Amino acid sequence: MALLEVRGLSKSFRGLKAVQDVSFDVTEGEILALIGPNGAGKTTCFNLIAGVFAPDQGSVRLGGMDITGLRPDQVCRAGIGRTFQIVKPFQQLSVEENVIVGALNRLHDVGAARERAREILEMLGLAAKRALPAASLTLPERKCLEVARAMATGPKLLLLDEVMAGLRPTETDHMVGVFRRLNEETGLTILLIEHVMRAVMALAGRIVVLHHGETIAEGGPGEVVRDPAVLECYLGEEAL
Ligand SMILES: Nc1ncnc2c1ncn2[C@@H]1O[C@H](COP(=O)(O)OP(=O)(O)OP(=O)(O)O)[C@@H](O)[C@H]1O
Ligand SMILES: [Mg+2]
Repeated sequence: MALLEVRGLSKSFRGLKAVQDVSFDVTEGEILALIGPNGAGKTTCFNLIAGVFAPDQGSVRLGGMDITGLRPDQVCRAGIGRTFQIVKPFQQLSVEENVIVGALNRLHDVGAARERAREILEMLGLAAKRALPAASLTLPERKCLEVARAMATGPKLLLLDEVMAGLRPTETDHMVGVFRRLNEETGLTILLIEHVMRAVMALAGRIVVLHHGETIAEGGPGEVVRDPAVLECYLGEEAL
């Protein structure tokens, strides 16, 4: 049984079919990338999985449990942590306090939550900034904090929405290293939306490609980047 089973998901916004009959599995321990052109429906898929919108049709199961249509807090409690494409930390709170808020999802003691927050900030290379207000962070640091907040909720499955966007290649490589370590050392399962192909190719064991809300390809990275339909709508000649 897959950790996440997405079946026949569809969602329209005032007649616009943002996601149409999308199905895929995420196996426990794998890193799966969701790619495709702007407006393909990737973030909408995350929102349907994470409970921001209920799907018009289809279902989402986590570890065999039907989580279709649950609220975001219930989905988080069920074990899905997510980052947002537009990062939104609590600006006035410190970096550490932001992560403590996430940790309080499962830990009910502030001391324990603080300890957990420190471990996560250490792991993500943000420990030196923990006392600063979130508003003072640079973009790459804010992206990292977004990941830390999601990790702190104690997810089985982490959804990452373009956490590498706007980063320099060295910063991207740092993030890739962090996710690879989390995946290998803690067995964390990751579903990531990403346009930075350097990161996708370095991380993903499998790729699902969306276009106009529909799945147009699915498979190993080597196979998907050579798929004529994917080249035509998204990657273009330069990818080869
Ligand atoms: N809340 C909403 N209300 C109305 N339309 C929406 C809403 N969210 C998304 N859409 C529309 O649904 C389509 C899919 O958008 P979505 O954000 O899922 O794309 P995406 O693949 O994440 O794109 P990008 O790579 O640019 O982030 C787009 O046409 C978008 O304008
Ligand atoms: Mg998006």
